[in-house]
Amino acid sequence: MELTANAKINLTLDILRKREDGYHELQMVMQAVTLADQLTVAPAKGPEGDAVADLRFLPTGNKNLAQVAAAVFRQATGLGGEVDVSIRKRVPVCAGLAGGSADAAAVLRAMNALTGAGLSLEELAEIGARAGSDVPFCVLGGTALAEGRGERLTPLPALPPCHIVICKPPFSISTPQLFGRVNVRKIVRRPDTQGVLAALKAGDLAGVARRMYNVFEDVVERRPAAEIAAIKAALIDRGALGASMSGSGPSVFGLFERSDAAQDAFSLLRESFRDVFVCRPAVPEV
Ligand code: C5P
Repeated sequence: MELTANAKINLTLDILRKREDGYHELQMVMQAVTLADQLTVAPAKGPEGDAVADLRFLPTGNKNLAQVAAAVFRQATGLGGEVDVSIRKRVPVCAGLAGGSADAAAVLRAMNALTGAGLSLEELAEIGARAGSDVPFCVLGGTALAEGRGERLTPLPALPPCHIVICKPPFSISTPQLFGRVNVRKIVRRPDTQGVLAALKAGDLAGVARRMYNVFEDVVERRPAAEIAAIKAALIDRGALGASMSGSGPSVFGLFERSDAAQDAFSLLRESFRDVFVCRPAVPEV
């Protein structure tokens, strides 16, 4: 079975408090994008399922999140045998774009179809939370408000059509370490989440773009922060309606109304960075 695993961006990311269980209570407006990995999922050839990708440094076998998702599905439903997963990786890894979670979500959808389990997307999303906090959103896709650990989802009106330029600078940021640097009481700048929700309802792209923000931007160390700020400035300079870091970074994205402006920003950033993409909002499959 062939599947598309869409990446996501965070239109907003706010941290409300630290929880007793060590996780953080979040409030995020998430958007699926057409930048995606391609997966093939098939019944395993050997006694144990394998996961292979066209990127050498990705975890293989049962360490890959795709196999974790397959195990979680079997545990939750009692259905499905071992599967081989082959991944054509296009979404940069450790980038704040939920590439691994998107692959995990695609495997859950594949196993649901291959086994005839007939779970709803909401049920699959609930199972997916056991594989990672971003997996439930990746199962549902579209535009959604994510709360709690990230697993409590409320579908939102779709982001108006636009062009999205994503640029990942060549370093990675550890998600647990970044959460470790957050002092919730010292967060000064927050996204206008309610304003973004109202702008989505009104179909106001510029209103969404203007209110985007990611509280992690203030806790990133100084040198990466300077690079992130420079990418944001380049995107805005080339006509982005707004720009922000996605997830725990380091990817930065800008929203554009016009395709020629997006192409222009892409060309400029491509002179300095390898991982630059132009994509669009992805609409959920039904
Ligand atoms: O759930 P997931 O494995 O994606 O989370 C990775 C790490 O990010 C967790 O171990 C935790 O340190 C941190 N995290 C958090 N609060 C969240 C989500 C993740 O502190 N809501």
